[in-house]
Amino acid sequence: MRRVISLIDMDCFYAQVEQRDKPELWGQPVIVVQHSRQGVEGGILAVSYEARPFGVKRGMSVADAKIKCPHLNICHVPIGEYADKADIQKYRYASAEVFRVLNNFDSTIIVEKASVDEAFLDLTAYTNQKLEEIRENGQLEEIVKTSLDQLPSTHLANGEDVKENEHLREEFLSDFIESSRNSTENLLLLIAAITVETIRKRIRDETQFYCSAGVGNNKMMAKLVCARHKPRQQTLIPWRNCREILRTTPIGDVRGFGGKMGNRIQEMLNITLMGEILELDIALLIETFPDQHEYLRAVAEGLDDEPVRPRKESSSIAVSKNFPGKMAIRTTGELKKWVGGLVKELAKRLGTDQAENKRTAENLVYSLLTDDGKPQKTLKMTSYHPDIIFEQVWTAIRALNRSNLAKNEDGPWTPPVLNISLSASRFQPGIPAQTRAITEWLGARKREKEARKNAVYDPNDGRADVIIEEPPAPVIPASKPSTSGPKTILDGSVEFIVLDDSDEDVPAPQPLKKPTDIDYITVDGKKISKQALRHLPPDIRKQYEHRIALEEARALKSKSDAKIGNRKRTGPIKSPVQQAKKPKPLESFFKKKI
Ligand code: TTP
Ligand code: CA
Ligand code: CA
Repeated sequence: MRRVISLIDMDCFYAQVEQRDKPELWGQPVIVVQHSRQGVEGGILAVSYEARPFGVKRGMSVADAKIKCPHLNICHVPIGEYADKADIQKYRYASAEVFRVLNNFDSTIIVEKASVDEAFLDLTAYTNQKLEEIRENGQLEEIVKTSLDQLPSTHLANGEDVKENEHLREEFLSDFIESSRNSTENLLLLIAAITVETIRKRIRDETQFYCSAGVGNNKMMAKLVCARHKPRQQTLIPWRNCREILRTTPIGDVRGFGGKMGNRIQEMLNITLMGEILELDIALLIETFPDQHEYLRAVAEGLDDEPVRPRKESSSIAVSKNFPGKMAIRTTGELKKWVGGLVKELAKRLGTDQAENKRTAENLVYSLLTDDGKPQKTLKMTSYHPDIIFEQVWTAIRALNRSNLAKNEDGPWTPPVLNISLSASRFQPGIPAQTRAITEWLGARKREKEARKNAVYDPNDGRADVIIEEPPAPVIPASKPSTSGPKTILDGSVEFIVLDDSDEDVPAPQPLKKPTDIDYITVDGKKISKQALRHLPPDIRKQYEHRIALEEARALKSKSDAKIGNRKRTGPIKSPVQQAKKPKPLESFFKKKI
């Protein structure tokens, strides 16, 4: 049975977020621009549909855009608190609003967040259930008769649709509706299209944002046709039309073929359209792509079996910054400053993720991109506190300096650094005890923020900063090409972050009482008084708080695993031997005292 899949993509998303913030901008040409650097405006990230007829495009310079459209409204991405990076939190919040609508629409619809502004929906179960109900209630005829009215913004992809007018739109759609009387497959697509019209209307009612959608039998086709009639429209592709559409589709327009893989196919086979793959001599295709020829033919026929994976939380939280060309970092002091800024940003996001998703990261991977390679290493996270993360990361990174000259803070750094990335991963469920450390830090941050309220930002101090929210490339079997292109902002799938800056969650001091079991915690199999922990030096306490957090998370996990009959286990659970190897600052602290 074919699946029923939709891709919903927000129209000029960042621009709409700005238009909603300043309602006078609705209906106006608007661009959203990265912050400026060295006095020059940053690149254009989003262009409202009102500005597009003037020829304003993403990536164009603001000056050129203004020449093309003199009454253009320019909005800037805010600057982050740390590391002078663009702060796309505002757009993430807006994205979360959209995803709340999608996730709450119906529990039988699988929602996969593909990027900040798009989601795949698997409507197979939903539409089959609806069809069953419709048949049981004898409503089939009524549905078929009224469906045209329920599809006011739907187009049928048949190749001719790109030239269509309203009359033709209705004609193409009516033919399809008629065909669905005798085709369950088409009926399911019809029900899906009606449902997606409803979902899009709900997004609009609840968030004010417009979006477009594609509806088809798999992710690739749904995504491809979504772009056919934008904005505020949706496109339906019946299975029988897939080949025809792909016949004239540029290879780079197909999901996963916009980068290296697509270029290789075009160059090596001397073709430009997806459908041309089917016209090639099969021996040539096998010879050129021995591991991928079957896959490529399947794609050209419109086949794609990649599942829609329910995804609400990211499996990693990453911060990254590019220093291209002349911007490359060449001194230890500069590198330290940027690592510090990125660590602060990461800690902030980890804190909010922890509050929202009740989980704690175990691993921290850093990488430094240079012309001479990309050293990277996985560290165990011992704390969410920015100072502790920084100490850990910087201790590891500073050893990478290959300069023979003075290795002090002001000395040179070789080879020059082109990108710094930090990524936290391997999340364990649970709200850790180090929450206190985080709320303390958030409290301090709030105070800092207040102090900074009147501070003036110096735009000339800016750095190149790429913001890319790309959907992950689909898995290509055998010798899968590495995904190319810019690699900043790796968290397209972060769903919803609530930043709670309030001090209200800091626990009030407890009155003295007789210790009970609750007053003890167990670390490495030892019972330790919580009271004693509170009086430890802050650095040791913080390390322990994180360890305790992980232990609690593991305990919680094994409890829930036991409940579901130990069916599966995610993340490593250390053996007692491994645990014994861990440094025990707490133990040595007590030893010293004795
Ligand atoms: P897109 O969905 O690619 O584009 P869009 O929503 O602006 O316009 P369209 O109506 O054609 O879909 O990207 C979503 C948002 O992600 C976009 O508004 C801004 C941001 N973005 C970047 O910051 N950098 C990029 O390179 C891209 C492609 C998008
Ligand atoms: Ca979009
Ligand atoms: Ca998008």
